[in-house]
Amino acid sequence: MLFFVDTANLDQIREASELGILDGVTTNPSLMAKEGISGEKNILKHYRDICDIVGQGRDVSAEVISTDFKGIVEEGKRLADLHENIVVKVPMIREGVKAIAYFTDAGIRTNCTLVFSAGQALLAAKAGATYLSPFIGRIDDIGWDGMALIKEIAEIYNNFGFETAILAASIRSPLHIIEAAKAGADVVTCPLPAILGLLNHPLTDIGLEKFLADHRKANG
Ligand code: G3P
Repeated sequence: MLFFVDTANLDQIREASELGILDGVTTNPSLMAKEGISGEKNILKHYRDICDIVGQGRDVSAEVISTDFKGIVEEGKRLADLHENIVVKVPMIREGVKAIAYFTDAGIRTNCTLVFSAGQALLAAKAGATYLSPFIGRIDDIGWDGMALIKEIAEIYNNFGFETAILAASIRSPLHIIEAAKAGADVVTCPLPAILGLLNHPLTDIGLEKFLADHRKANG
């Protein structure tokens, strides 16, 4: 299972990268805006900086703003040309599906985002998306079951051997990560605190404290 960090914050990306378990990064226009990144030149530079931090072979999703086929294709090509790590993130809309099919033929990797149903997941896989991003937390927010969607998509993809990777997004907690892993997600993209939350167990803390106390007693 791959671990991506879901942020455009360079310090957090660095911290996740230094942990030694990071496989990639996802961003979106809201996360970029949160970091105060605006204007095409600055946005492109920020994506390059993220790629440089994570290093070779780690995918970085950069999202298009256009919503028409021609615009998505032009923007996506500019993003893909930036760095070999870039995966073009495209919304699950009619023009987006067309663009994903185009990018697939052109050998450009894609992440289909804003996915909330199994039908959308099928269309994205048919178009050849590299990654599919179902938004677990936002489904839970409206009282539905985000993990049930991951299971449903995993079943469909297994039935037909689709190669699109299920990237569980809108992850809010360590429990979400574990549940996504059990449900069959290939990748989780999470805020850094959710990843760090996996470290915690009180018995680990109590056990370590005792080991160190015993060592101090024996060694003076
Ligand atoms: O990658 C999509 C993700 O960032 C959405 O998360 O927490 O805004 O629903 P959230």
